[in-house]
Amino acid sequence: MAETESKSDDPAREIAERYRHRVGGVLTALRETVARFGYVSRSREHVVADVFNLSRAEVRGIVSFYHDLKTTPQPPVQVRVCQAEACQSVGARELTTRVESHLGIKLGETNDAVSLDAVYCLGLCAQAPSMMVNGRPLARADLCDLAEEIPA
Ligand code: FES
Repeated sequence: MAETESKSDDPAREIAERYRHRVGGVLTALRETVARFGYVSRSREHVVADVFNLSRAEVRGIVSFYHDLKTTPQPPVQVRVCQAEACQSVGARELTTRVESHLGIKLGETNDAVSLDAVYCLGLCAQAPSMMVNGRPLARADLCDLAEEIPA
């Protein structure tokens, strides 16, 4: 079966069916698909489109709009460094440079072990700069925090 075909036994169908009649169900189903499988494959986009009676293009549009709805397998460690104003005012750019050096990748890049992305406000402005490692927010972040999480 081609990757673009919608399989009837795909576990993503059970997820989508669960949210089928809920307001915001499409996004919730896609988020749960990412939580369970790590990303939303094309075939799973098609499953969601089928269950919600949407076009594949509509579901593709939703998936492509939200950065968190990954479409490819992700590395085991995901780092995000806040680039918004409050964090910039207390050294987020310098922190980003140090994090890039520590990880050996630039902002927006991914390797087999880690991804490094920008995020625009984690709600920790009063404790800036901030970053997030595998969904765990780090306030008043510095390279030592990251080095504890990800030794070089
Ligand atoms: S601006 Fe960085 S947490 Fe709000």
